[in-house]
Amino acid sequence: MNANSERSKPGRGTVPPGAGDVGSRVATPVIIDTDPGIDDAIAILLALASPELDVLGLTTVAGNTTLHNTTANAMRVLDLAGRHDIPVAAGADRPLIRTPWHAEDVHGADGLGGADLPAAQRQPIRTHAVDFIAGQLHASPVPVTLITIGPLTNIALLLALHPAAASRIGHVVMMGGSTGAGNITPTAEFNIWFDPEAAHRVFASNLPKTIVGLDVARQAIVRSEDLTRLQAGGRVGQLVTGLVDYYSRYYQERHGTPDTCQHDALTVAHLIRPELVTTRRLNVTVEYGSDETRGTTVIGEPLITGAAAHAAVAFELDAVAFTELLLDRLSALDAHVG
Ligand code: RIB
Ligand code: CA
Repeated sequence: MNANSERSKPGRGTVPPGAGDVGSRVATPVIIDTDPGIDDAIAILLALASPELDVLGLTTVAGNTTLHNTTANAMRVLDLAGRHDIPVAAGADRPLIRTPWHAEDVHGADGLGGADLPAAQRQPIRTHAVDFIAGQLHASPVPVTLITIGPLTNIALLLALHPAAASRIGHVVMMGGSTGAGNITPTAEFNIWFDPEAAHRVFASNLPKTIVGLDVARQAIVRSEDLTRLQAGGRVGQLVTGLVDYYSRYYQERHGTPDTCQHDALTVAHLIRPELVTTRRLNVTVEYGSDETRGTTVIGEPLITGAAAHAAVAFELDAVAFTELLLDRLSALDAHVG
């Protein structure tokens, strides 16, 4: 059974009514490479609630927690949303070179803050994530967009193992890096820090890429009180409320504020509404030579460095519009799922 036959129907048929009219535009086929992870789970739900996107599959990677947990969590979230048509393919269980270090102080031992969510009702497909992505890229009649919201290990392996498939990628929208301070070290953002060699391979490639970094993600705030908007009180609302409450306690303890940064949902939202952020084309490289600065993204202004501006880098965010979009879509999904 190949990856394509495991997709029983196009996913758009189950998009909740009122989740936003896309008119006659065709949904963008996307694959989400993810390490759920509290904010990943919310980002996945946003993607499922958005008719602009046709989620071909989720591919998982070790990052926030172990590959076992990220894979189980991806399926648990899809089960909650009733999306048994979307395959999950497990990928790399560790970085290319580095020793894994999971952010379980942030996301909990299970990766979802101990959320009251049933165990996965199915297994991941037998196809490895990298081979699944390659198969989808070759099979799709139109370019596929990769949304990466975890470490870039799978994407680096894709470039190494399936260069012909990688050349068919329409766009990579990635959460990673920072034009300012880091969150795992003073200068590095977690996704890039976790596997800096993989990030280097991806950033140095000629893939069409957009980078949503920590500095702009820090503007994508959701507070627990925002969630009273999830009026339907369904299972999606209950899960998201629990996830944000757990995340908020971490932010309060670590950063002295209950405001949670929705890094991964912003990355998905950028695809749905590109105008939410302003981007500039810049050169971005990754430092991986020393432990001290591993994972630091170095943003080069081409006029100064003369280096190729190979990436669109997100800057200013319309934060109010982002929160509105996220909560409107989650509310619609909540009402749809019940
Ligand atoms: O630094 C934030 C990123 O690291 C997010 O993707 C979060 O889920 C973690 O993976
Ligand atoms: Ca993530």
